Amino acid sequence: MHTLLLFLGNIPWWGWILIVLALVAIRDIFVQRSHTISHNFPIVGHLRYFLESIGPELRQYLVANNREELPFNRNERGWIYASAKKENNYEGFGTDQDIYSHQYIFVNNAMLPFKVPPGHPNTTDKHFLPCAKVMGAYRQRKRPFRPGSVINISAMSFGSLSAKAVESMNLGAKKAGAYHNTGEGGLSPYHSMGADVVFQVGTGYFGVRDKNGNFSMKKLKKMVEEKPFVRAIEIKLSQGAKPGKGGVLPAKKITREIADIRHVDMGKDVLSPANHTAFSSIKELIAFVEDIARETGLPVGIKAAIGKLDQWHELASLMKETGKGPDFITIDGGEGGTGAAPPSFADHVSLPWVYGFSDVYRIFKEMDIADRIVFVASGKLGFPAKATMAFAMGADCINVAREAMMSIGCIQAQSCHTNRCPSGVATQNKWLQSGINIPLKSDRLHQYFDTFRKEFLEVTHACGYEHPCQFTMYDVDISVGDRNLTQTLAATYKYNKVKVPFESMEKLKECPHLGGSNKNEA
Ligand SMILES: Cc1cc2nc3c(=O)[nH]c(=O)nc-3n(C[C@H](O)[C@H](O)[C@H](O)COP(=O)(O)O)c2cc1C
Repeated sequence: MHTLLLFLGNIPWWGWILIVLALVAIRDIFVQRSHTISHNFPIVGHLRYFLESIGPELRQYLVANNREELPFNRNERGWIYASAKKENNYEGFGTDQDIYSHQYIFVNNAMLPFKVPPGHPNTTDKHFLPCAKVMGAYRQRKRPFRPGSVINISAMSFGSLSAKAVESMNLGAKKAGAYHNTGEGGLSPYHSMGADVVFQVGTGYFGVRDKNGNFSMKKLKKMVEEKPFVRAIEIKLSQGAKPGKGGVLPAKKITREIADIRHVDMGKDVLSPANHTAFSSIKELIAFVEDIARETGLPVGIKAAIGKLDQWHELASLMKETGKGPDFITIDGGEGGTGAAPPSFADHVSLPWVYGFSDVYRIFKEMDIADRIVFVASGKLGFPAKATMAFAMGADCINVAREAMMSIGCIQAQSCHTNRCPSGVATQNKWLQSGINIPLKSDRLHQYFDTFRKEFLEVTHACGYEHPCQFTMYDVDISVGDRNLTQTLAATYKYNKVKVPFESMEKLKECPHLGGSNKNEA
């Protein structure tokens, strides 16, 4: 034994390296059977796997230019980070975009901008920008809701996001006077820090389900009664990143806390089916909407990504015929984000936002019922110029998911599906979450929303308007690339937006249904 130790002790450091490399080579050639590259090129083959694993970071930090990354390029991310930190978010020397490129968007400024008169709400609060429409007003729901902000947090469940991320967002939304959509994973304590909440009902009916996984009106009613900050209900039909695709929450990921929030059993896989069990036709969907609205008194909406239009035609004509149906419709773009989805769905199923929204809006406009509905838009719209285009096309509010994540520190590592999100935003790993400073991150979200609204208002004023609801399809041109050069949105998408009734910001401020920090309700 002593001689062996003496022998090992005499091996120099480089000898140990050679021994380790020899062991790796033996393993690569004779032991492992799953990697041909390692077998054929022992030791050096590992370099390939290592470089491949750090490729995204290398490209993001060193190689990609400011405008080439997707889903959000460096300039877009930089604008959100700087806005969230209240740093200089301006650009020097002029645009670095190719403004002659196909599908480029131009906002048509007025010769003389809108002059904010003395005493106007925006002279004292440059971020005051509520929604111009009231959810549930047309159908006279018991508790109508005017979102206090035109930008809000889109559906993201506790489970896909960490507890600390959800809490930071909710506190930030409270400070910004915006609403926070729970996502389909139920209402968690982290969604309950004081912001207005839109409760999402997905196919799993998490938090409002009975023992068999069916929808329970009793539970929903109880929740709404106990939590007055829940201001609206959204029935999720689909989302842009994975329309028509269900999901499984594996038993091993279900903690006691998640089981309690979602009302599911521990130790069993939980299915989110592709379909709802509460309704199977458009008629039944309308009945479901009306039942929830009657029982809870809240406005009820639907969320969907757009593909085929026949059922949308059916919905619009039934709504016209009966006067019933959703109070708001959230249209999600195919470019939308997700915690996890197969690439075939994320990349190909459902239309991008502009095409999907214009198709659906046109249907409701032709039925002459667009004015009854609040249109909510999502799909990379958390930038003032893009929001201008959305409002010009008929959106009344926008929801942001990944932009909100970035404002609290997401670095677009695109690892939400691995539970290894390095910024702690989209992981349940306690260590990775522990770096999130909730008060600081909530301020960041607040500042991003404030900056967005301030800049969006400035663009609105530059076009001669007081509120972005006044944008029309003639206020934005789009480069069509051929000899037509540019066309208005009206010419491109073949409709005009229905005029939104708007008197003044002052009137919006006085509204008894106004949500957020400016709320007037008792
Ligand atoms: C991490 C994550 C989780 C999401 N979870 C949900 C969800 O539970 N329900 C839903 O309707 N949409 C969900 N979405 C989609 C977003 O709500 C939103 O519609 C989409 O990302 C487009 O907005 P964005 O471009 O601002 O991210 C999720 C998105 C992300 C990134």
